Amino acid sequence: MTMRPRQKDRLETNPALSTRRLKLGTFQTNLDSGCVMSDLDGRLDITWPNTVALAKLADEMEFEALVPVARWMGWGGKLNPQGPGFETYTWAAGISASTQNSGVVSTSHITINHPIIAAKQSAAIDHISDGRFILNVVTGWVQPEIEMFNQPFLSHEERYACAEEWLGIIKRLWTEDDSFDHEGRFFKIKKGYLAPKPIQYPYPAIMNAGASDLGRHYAVKHCDLVFTVIRTGGFDECRAHVQAYHTLAREQYGRDIKVWTLVNIVQGETEAEARAFYDDYVHKRGDWDAAKNMVEIFSLETNKRNVPPERIKPLQEAFIQGWGGLPVIGTREQVVDRLMMLSKAGLDGVLVAFPRYEDGMRDFRDKTYPLLKQAGLRDFV
Ligand SMILES: Cc1cc2nc3c(=O)[nH]c(=O)nc-3n(C[C@H](O)[C@H](O)[C@H](O)COP(=O)(O)O)c2cc1C
Repeated sequence: MTMRPRQKDRLETNPALSTRRLKLGTFQTNLDSGCVMSDLDGRLDITWPNTVALAKLADEMEFEALVPVARWMGWGGKLNPQGPGFETYTWAAGISASTQNSGVVSTSHITINHPIIAAKQSAAIDHISDGRFILNVVTGWVQPEIEMFNQPFLSHEERYACAEEWLGIIKRLWTEDDSFDHEGRFFKIKKGYLAPKPIQYPYPAIMNAGASDLGRHYAVKHCDLVFTVIRTGGFDECRAHVQAYHTLAREQYGRDIKVWTLVNIVQGETEAEARAFYDDYVHKRGDWDAAKNMVEIFSLETNKRNVPPERIKPLQEAFIQGWGGLPVIGTREQVVDRLMMLSKAGLDGVLVAFPRYEDGMRDFRDKTYPLLKQAGLRDFV
């Protein structure tokens, strides 16, 4: 494989692969309500100007990954949170044209987005962003949205087999000059062809959030950035959790991967103020009916998550407060300490969400981000 004239080494172009000590990103800013399920004033009202405003704030701080969520319907309940929203490839194309610095992600379902179209759209976004594109592969766990397309809802094992074939085709289209035929278990392709190739050499960065055993193997074997949910704040547990991904990648596949997570920042002038705000938007104003619907689908046997009954309520709360992200509640100094802890535990990147996303990002830029820089977390190492 040789670099073509218009291509560039992705280590030079893609901020998500940079050597910055702690990389940052946003999450689910393409969907209504952002990461909360709550009747909270100031939550994200999804319009194009509002999603661009968030991307521009992130771009100003050189956030390394703007991650949209691929969602085709909301969660019902009182507010139908995450229902209205922008499709992720078109969102990423527009966001790429509106930003200069940030890595821009498109999140793609494997059975809904044909691999030739996914590869082609990705290549276009990589050109628009001049090599800042990242493809997030999702296997799909929300049965009703897969059924909306009249697509078969694959078993968990089939989803990862399909994901392997899907990504294999995309990588061939991105890297091979000659047309090729493909006869697989899920896809048949005649004279597959793609030009122009993406800007990034050898191909764009790939992300995945596989959490099950199969999912973790898939992520560390085929992807560059691995997303994981940190459910506890304890340092040793967190470090062991992150290290397990590196060990699996290194020992089984001889690969080096980057591990990222999601946090939900609930900041106040005092910790008590932050906790009172959390209590209000989660316990008093939370859309618990929507969360119930969501967790029911999340816990379906076919998703292989083994959720015991006592975990149902805490899971509902986790999604109401910030889409399952680790809640970081307190003063700006406490937020910086917590981000420092995550970095020391080995995390390469953290997506940050805020209940009132735009207000939160402005406040973060003005007050918290300077402290992060002072602490050396934004240094290149
Ligand atoms: C940061 C992050 C982003 C995700 N984005 C999406 C998404 O946009 N659409 C989706 O259907 N699933 C999404 N997921 C769910 C994952 O794709 C996957 O189903 C989940 O992590 C479970 O993996 P498993 O099948 O290995 O248990 C996301 C998960 C995480 C942690």
